Amino acid sequence: MTIDQVSWMFCVLAAMIAFIIFFKQKNIISCSKYKRILPPGDMGLPLIGETIEFFKAQRKNRLFDDFVQPRITKYGNIFKTRLLGSPTVVVNGAEANRFFLSNEFKLVISSWPSSSVQLMGIDSIMQKQGEQHRCLRGIIASCLNSSGLEALVPKICNTVQRHLDTHWQGQDRLSLYRSAKVLTFTVVFECLLGIKVEPGMLKTFERVLEGVFAPAIRFPGSRFSRAKKARQEIEKLLVKVVREKRKEIMEKGGNKEKEEVGMLLSQLVTGMIRGDVTEKEVIDNVVLLVFAAHDTTSFAIAMTFKMLAQHSDCYSLLLQEHVDIKKNNKRAGEILTLEEVKKIKYTWQVARESMRLFPPIFGSFRKAVADIQYQGFTIPRGWKVLWTAYGTHCNEEYFEDPLSFNPNRFEESIPPYVYLPFGGGPRVCAGYQLAKLNIIIFVHYVVTRYDWSLIYPNESITMDPLPFPSHGLPIKISPKL
Ligand code: HEM
Ligand SMILES: *[C@@H]1O[C@H](CO)[C@@H](O)[C@H](O)[C@H]1NC(C)=O
Ligand SMILES: *[C@@H]1O[C@H](CO)[C@@H](O)[C@H](O)[C@H]1NC(C)=O
Repeated sequence: MTIDQVSWMFCVLAAMIAFIIFFKQKNIISCSKYKRILPPGDMGLPLIGETIEFFKAQRKNRLFDDFVQPRITKYGNIFKTRLLGSPTVVVNGAEANRFFLSNEFKLVISSWPSSSVQLMGIDSIMQKQGEQHRCLRGIIASCLNSSGLEALVPKICNTVQRHLDTHWQGQDRLSLYRSAKVLTFTVVFECLLGIKVEPGMLKTFERVLEGVFAPAIRFPGSRFSRAKKARQEIEKLLVKVVREKRKEIMEKGGNKEKEEVGMLLSQLVTGMIRGDVTEKEVIDNVVLLVFAAHDTTSFAIAMTFKMLAQHSDCYSLLLQEHVDIKKNNKRAGEILTLEEVKKIKYTWQVARESMRLFPPIFGSFRKAVADIQYQGFTIPRGWKVLWTAYGTHCNEEYFEDPLSFNPNRFEESIPPYVYLPFGGGPRVCAGYQLAKLNIIIFVHYVVTRYDWSLIYPNESITMDPLPFPSHGLPIKISPKL
């Protein structure tokens, strides 16, 4: 054989080997494609799938009992279904929570309905990933670090006291849920952002929020159209506020006033001047923060009071805690300090237990950005994943006697990814600290100043799709002497 022949044969051989390897690999791939096991479950009707069953259960606030639990019993902790046109895998349990929440950006990304995205704006933090997400979270977090919280406490105390003076004084009954909403709105705007609330603002914002989960169809008078219009009004107002703040900061130059430190709008606008943040990002995130804080904090407050009304032994303990704090508080205007708020431990246990049983956000949707292998199943790229707080909150494996109200269970620390009213992973609630202060401080001034009782002790909870007390939790109040 000549050298040429040898090299030719060598080439053929190499090509054959490559060919075999190629097909073997292709085989492996197609084999694994064939072997790909989807989670068990029923996809329901074409297109709509099981959406109707889901909404029916949701409306009655029986999403867990009527939708999730029966499917867990039938298929296990991971099951597939089809919701709102998308194939969806519902995942339950601490291990699944850890896997999906901590793999945000890598395997899954958060996935909101089109109306939410359009109304919050594509530049809100919930649409951001990677560096941009980190930057925005950093700005929010810098307002809620230890010095930020220290400055927030007296502001929230003043706001709560002013709220009680204007909305509670002279009344003998009121809607606690409504009151909590007005208060939360004011706390986010005036205490966190540093923007003065003008008359009519709350109404306009609430019109936006009403459209967040409505179908994204625009015809005159539809919820979504009204929300879109309200959003434009808000934009006009906020653009003015942002530009004024920009001018103010530019004029003041380097020496910002001390009271400005920690106000979120100033931080965002400062980021804008640095060139890290755009004007649209500032506006979209202000709208998002209101959305994130509004119904959630108000519902947590409402459920805390509902539980206190139904468990008088817990109420006595809680009341004692606040009477003790008040007794030792000699400050003008009865303003609390962060130090004191940190000592109000039992109240936070009560609030946490209320959120365990009534999570303001029961879970949220993610979208798989790659084929995901999890516990022997494949979740194909493009499918939705729904993690739920119910999957652990209502499971006796994690909480003994899960349906009973027992704040003492929070005396022990809870393992990670078991208790998640605030979510987890890189998208864990950015306003957790503010929500905590808001709830504790509101409870403090209400229970030390008023006797109160529920008008409908058995008031039901509805979801649309966020949960709320169906009559707004009306209460009877009388000032303490
Ligand atoms: C009791 C009250 C609250 C509850 C139960 C709550 C719950 C949650 C949950 C579960 C998430 C994660 C959603 C997901 O993973 O898709 C979240 C995210 C978020 N929350 Fe809260 N929240 C509350 C109050 C607040 C407040 C007062 C603020 C701010 C003023 C806030 C700001 C945010 C923001 C900005 C995010 C998005 C974080 C990100 O995408 O990185 N929340 N919240
Ligand atoms: C908290 O954040 C502010 C910016 O809002 C910063 O100036 C301050 O140094 C931070 N404080 C601590 C204790 O990290
Ligand atoms: C409320 O519920 C309790 C216990 O579940 C029951 O005893 C009571 O009769 C109910 N009251 C009303 C007004 O429905």
